[in-house]
Amino acid sequence: AIDIRDIFKESEKYLNKEIEIEGWIRTLRSSKRFGFIEVNDGTFFANLQVVFDETLQNFPEVEKLPISSAISVKGTLVETPEAKQPFEIQAKEISLLAPSDRDYPLQKKRHTFEYLRTIAHLRPRGNTFNAVFRVRSLAAYAIHKFFQDRGFVYVHTPIITGSDAEGAGEMFRVTTFDLTNVPLHENNQVDYTEDFFGRETNLTVSGQLEAEAYALAFKRVYTFGPTFRAENSNTPRHAAEFWMIEPEIAFADLTDNRKLAEDMMKFLLSYVMEKAPEEMKFFNSFIDKGLIERLENIVNSDFECITYTEAINLLQKSKEQFQFPVKWGMDLQTEHERYISEKVFKGPVFIIDYPKDIKAFYMRLNDDENTVAAMDLLVPGVGEIIGGSQREERLDVLEKRIEEMGMKKDDYWWYLELRKYGGVKHAGYGLGFERAIMYMTGMSNIRDVIPFPRTVGSAEF
Ligand code: 4AD
Ligand code: MG
Repeated sequence: AIDIRDIFKESEKYLNKEIEIEGWIRTLRSSKRFGFIEVNDGTFFANLQVVFDETLQNFPEVEKLPISSAISVKGTLVETPEAKQPFEIQAKEISLLAPSDRDYPLQKKRHTFEYLRTIAHLRPRGNTFNAVFRVRSLAAYAIHKFFQDRGFVYVHTPIITGSDAEGAGEMFRVTTFDLTNVPLHENNQVDYTEDFFGRETNLTVSGQLEAEAYALAFKRVYTFGPTFRAENSNTPRHAAEFWMIEPEIAFADLTDNRKLAEDMMKFLLSYVMEKAPEEMKFFNSFIDKGLIERLENIVNSDFECITYTEAINLLQKSKEQFQFPVKWGMDLQTEHERYISEKVFKGPVFIIDYPKDIKAFYMRLNDDENTVAAMDLLVPGVGEIIGGSQREERLDVLEKRIEEMGMKKDDYWWYLELRKYGGVKHAGYGLGFERAIMYMTGMSNIRDVIPFPRTVGSAEF
């Protein structure tokens, strides 16, 4: 059988010829003497219409087939100039490949996204999730293409690590210990020397530290893999398991970093619009009106950039009522981030030079000694989509920061050593892959852009 995708992409090759397709029934309606089936085989977003009539030897069975039955169809592809679809198959033979029970949960009527999360194993068969996950696949490819075309080396950083890359303590432990019988030191601390790795280990929160090591060997590298955060944030934007893209560039400062992030975002959005036009049109009509026009504008304009201090001034001057009072030194909350990107700039905006006390230990201290060379990219609808910085390359300053933050220098010995041997200035950032998918599809919950999401209190599938 041929793919429905090929029929849509190269219909001239198949018109007025006998062809065979196989797929699942999306809809079926029939009258006494003829009927219509919309078939989808997963290779293309649109369904292919099949018409059949009572000359089919098994007409009475076909007419009653439940939705989601798998069938194969032999027939002639004909043009239908008056219809919504440009062509259809006039069936000569329809056979059942796999039956479907009548209680199939995804009947034609619309379902809420909340309900569809409870059937995560079936939801990719519907339009919305079919579109989301094809876009997700294309976006992943686009990321690799962007970096590979620019000579970046793809580094596989470890999933299980001994370090806390963000120093924020939001890690999932990895252990072979039986929780009912954990060996303890005399001081009642867990004795990890008897554990599998002989030390305390966790799932990675970021591949950045290892990426830095490789950037200082390859100049330009990137990671793209799963990361894990045990944040107790039950929001539409946080997942416990998410994918992150982390480029790291040597001989580069924050401005180079920002430029790279902007180019990458623009490439990613254009790539997906070009390669998934049907899916993007669907999002534009049913999920987020005006999406395509907005994304096109973003691709064609420069991203804004303001300092954290400027952002605080903007917030303090605004007439908006914020839940969290605005004050220099505070971390920006989602409401502040959204106000700045949605109301003030109405587009992507970088915020740079944050107070050092609210940012990670590895960010480069600015000359004012109060702020660090950090950058967050905020976008309307999502908020923070990228977090990055120029890294502290000065060993003494970095050691001081680690101590100030109450972290142990020993835990970071190899990271510190990078500064001793040609530790040139370098910078990088992390793009939350799911947040990028939310941004380009208009989907508003992270649970709806991950096939089987892992969030607080939920790991059913
Ligand atoms: O800002 P974050 O924590 O930065 C880092 O991890 C750095 N090590 C990155 C780097 O400089 N190489 O995370 C980066 C991005 C965020 O901007 C956000 O898009 C996403 O990762 N992110 C999450 N996405 C979903 N669920 C979560 N719990 C996330 N936490 C961060
Ligand atoms: Mg961040």
